[in-house]
Amino acid sequence: MELVQRTDRHDGVAVLKLSNAPVNCLSKETRRRLADALQAVELDSTVTAVVLMGNGKAFSAGADLKEFDRPDAFMDRDLQHLILAQIESMTKPVVAAIHGVALGGGCELALGCHYRVANPDAKIGLPEITLGFMPGAGGTQRLPRAIGLEPALNLILKGNPVSGDEGLRLGLVDAVIHEDIEQGAIAFALRVATSRPLPLLRDKPIVHPNAVGFLDFVRRTVKADPHAPPGALSVVEALAAAATLGFDKGLEIEFDLFRRLAESAEAKAFRHVFFATRAAGRVPKPARRMPALATALVVGGGAMGRGIAVSLLEAGLTVSLLESDGGAREAAANWIRDHYRRQMEQRRLSPERMEQTLSRFASVQRYEEARDVDLAIEAVFEDMGVKLDVMRALDRAIRPEAILATNTSSLDVNELAAATGRPQQVLGLHFFNPAQVMKPVEVIRADKTAPEVLEAAIELVRRMRKIAVISGVCDGFIGNRMMTQYLNQAMFILEEGTMPWVVDDALEKWGMTMGPFRMLDLVGNEVPWAARKRKYLAHPHGVYPRVADELCERGWYGQKTGRGWYVHEQGKRRPKPNPDAAALIESHALKHGIPKREVAPNEIVERCIYALVNEGSAVLGEGIAEKASDIDVLLTSGYGFPRTRGGPMFHAETVGLTNVLRRMRRFAATGHGDKDFWNPHPLLVRLANGAKPYAEAGECR
Ligand code: NAI
Repeated sequence: MELVQRTDRHDGVAVLKLSNAPVNCLSKETRRRLADALQAVELDSTVTAVVLMGNGKAFSAGADLKEFDRPDAFMDRDLQHLILAQIESMTKPVVAAIHGVALGGGCELALGCHYRVANPDAKIGLPEITLGFMPGAGGTQRLPRAIGLEPALNLILKGNPVSGDEGLRLGLVDAVIHEDIEQGAIAFALRVATSRPLPLLRDKPIVHPNAVGFLDFVRRTVKADPHAPPGALSVVEALAAAATLGFDKGLEIEFDLFRRLAESAEAKAFRHVFFATRAAGRVPKPARRMPALATALVVGGGAMGRGIAVSLLEAGLTVSLLESDGGAREAAANWIRDHYRRQMEQRRLSPERMEQTLSRFASVQRYEEARDVDLAIEAVFEDMGVKLDVMRALDRAIRPEAILATNTSSLDVNELAAATGRPQQVLGLHFFNPAQVMKPVEVIRADKTAPEVLEAAIELVRRMRKIAVISGVCDGFIGNRMMTQYLNQAMFILEEGTMPWVVDDALEKWGMTMGPFRMLDLVGNEVPWAARKRKYLAHPHGVYPRVADELCERGWYGQKTGRGWYVHEQGKRRPKPNPDAAALIESHALKHGIPKREVAPNEIVERCIYALVNEGSAVLGEGIAEKASDIDVLLTSGYGFPRTRGGPMFHAETVGLTNVLRRMRRFAATGHGDKDFWNPHPLLVRLANGAKPYAEAGECR
């Protein structure tokens, strides 16, 4: 099929349709065809106006990201600019007719047209920043001319699209079309066909009372924000050029910033995470498919059960919640109702939507009341005995075709499955806390889980707008298992005499959203303590840092008890170092004869991050994770690993696997902490020796 289809009408309007399914990405070839088509209509004297739109479900989702990492990616700067310059020099109006999405390059194309019309629910925006780069074809120059400097900066820095209705209010579109977009746009084109001069955004001035002062303020704010995405500062500079240097110079500066950014390590890491996220949870189509899950039972109404219930309601399911404790039952139901009431008060939800959603929710007291559900998820106490009882009860009460899932964070899903008469329909769905907010869900494939059950669960996770990462069964699955080693290293470093806040600062400066000890205080130090106690029994000869046990023995769990590694004062956002924790660390080291040494920030980072890399290699080598990119997705979306570094496995490749290996061997030789842990996993050694990337781990297992 032609990438750009042309239809000529007897009234002089030519309709050009981008036809690059599914979302009309502006691949190089599509842009070439578009340039040809525009030239042809310009030269055709029977054409008086042009409607430019997309075939199918979208105007255009923008550039084809896959083209960014090709060696010739930026040789063709002029292709996109050429099209826009071509439109600007045309003698007949070009009307962009926006339906579905006009994002990134698609939005920039529309901004280059003389007019823009859109369906009310169209999504228009420049989301480049969320992928680690910035608009590169005039977006930063034309948008502020269309809607003003401050609104444009906000839209580009947040990357959120606006609707057609909102676009009209802002001045981004000229008319909203409530009926069929093509017919509406043609009618609009006929109305403006003879109107001259043809309006162009490049000709509009940017009006602002103090553009330089305002941009200076934003520049300083962005520079001070350690978590600002890689493109933020470049966007500010491009808008500064737009506001002070005129259109053509601005365009040049924008492209220069864009190219430098797109080729930067941070942007590459961001793109890696983007593609890795899309690839996560892909499974071969099973021979048999289950109908979409429509009803669910959640067992346990604690912190996790409530959030899981809300996530299921968001995916459109009818949800029952069973909680054995009367008080907790009422508290959970109230919490869910309050959650939706707050959403409504914050205008994120209409009163009708709230009523409709809550009408799908019920609190139940007996399993039999929910016997017809498609799925049951247990989120009761993390105790094998309790969970086995619940799985058996579910197996007896719930219809035999239903899926039974567990939200356990560490218990053996195979053992839970074996307690039922339907192990092929049992799996783990490991949500993160708070479940209604956090994106990742580890989908735990047990030994007997049927492919169609796995697929149905992944589909459900997607409907919840979350990210499914498949994991095999092991203690802690992928994420918590890796984080255990990371935390162990952080603890060993404490035992050598470095304070928690020094460790936190080093890792936060490196890019982790939150250092390990601030995170532990937030989650509660008693959670890993319980897991450690189980490990001491199961593997009594392991080497463990025990300093955190002493903290827990004093009841210093963290935020919830007001004290942990830090002192948490009510109403204060930033906790203060706990001097008693410092004394405890020193006396612990003395008691156990651990020599005191200074650990430099660089070593703190390397030991903690390479602990993730080594354990990640083990997880991959054992086939617990199916691919390295899944690990990167999980760590960046669930554990605050910086996206600008692409996840631990991508980061290790960026550093060079041989370099990582050399450091690990050095840690093993110096015997810091757990000496044996630093024996690199064989998979890592094989890949490093063969100069192969993690993507080829499958062949090296
Ligand atoms: P929680 O202690 O807040 O809630 C558990 C709830 O289950 C309580 O309200 C309890 O009354 C109820 N319950 C216990 N036995 C029951 C039974 N037989 N029938 C019905 N209800 C019963 O615990 P939380 O934090 O919600 O954790 C639940 C599960 O989720 C655990 O397996 C935990 O490991 C897992 N998990 C917890 C995360 C967290 O950060 N809290 C993160 C991911 C998973």
